[in-house]
Amino acid sequence: MSVSLAGRRIVVSAGPTYEDIDPVRFIGNRSSGKMGFAVAAAAARRGAQVMLIAGPVHLPTPEGVQRIDVRSAQQMRDAVFAQLPADAYIGAAAVADYRPRTPLSGKLKKTGETLALELVRTPDILAELGTHALRPRRLVGFAAETDDIAHYARGKLVRKRLDLIAANRVGQPGSGFESDENALVVYAHDGEQALGPAPKTELADGLLDLVFPD
Ligand code: C5P
Repeated sequence: MSVSLAGRRIVVSAGPTYEDIDPVRFIGNRSSGKMGFAVAAAAARRGAQVMLIAGPVHLPTPEGVQRIDVRSAQQMRDAVFAQLPADAYIGAAAVADYRPRTPLSGKLKKTGETLALELVRTPDILAELGTHALRPRRLVGFAAETDDIAHYARGKLVRKRLDLIAANRVGQPGSGFESDENALVVYAHDGEQALGPAPKTELADGLLDLVFPD
């Protein structure tokens, strides 16, 4: 029997962010948004008030979920912070780490044989929440890794001051970004738990059980 989340306010981010180079090009990534949408849907089914901050994805809004669409990391950060206070933030979005320093207002022309784009860091939403006065009591991150999952995930758990981090291996069939199935290892400060392989909808419920144990 799952724990009811009635009365809880949960903010979930999902999908990629797109960082514009010029009016027709951007830097993006392969996140489909499915995991975050599944978490938002599962939380709403349990009665939570859910705000989903979605990057550019092709997914319908789950029943009972409120949604704000954003494009860039900066827009996602501003939308998330506008939702505080909240009981939990579940950061399932694959936020771009870098953006072009100055997006061009006109289309970039093809000139030389090579082209250097200068990139600057985007705001780290989770890390900023970790030290914020209105830090949600449960702060959950995701880590998509190709190797040495435990090492990198635990590093992020500590560095970003999270309560939990759900790590998955990307770059393998049947897991990761575009798949409907996934396998997660959820790390806490005092232990870890493997979830799946299972459909993302089922994993979402397992994750919520760990985020809200009572
Ligand atoms: O450090 P890394 O990008 O691998 O961390 C992944 C986690 O951090 C995800 O939960 C993602 O939503 C979050 N993140 C963020 N802001 C960023 C980059 C990542 O909130 N700029």
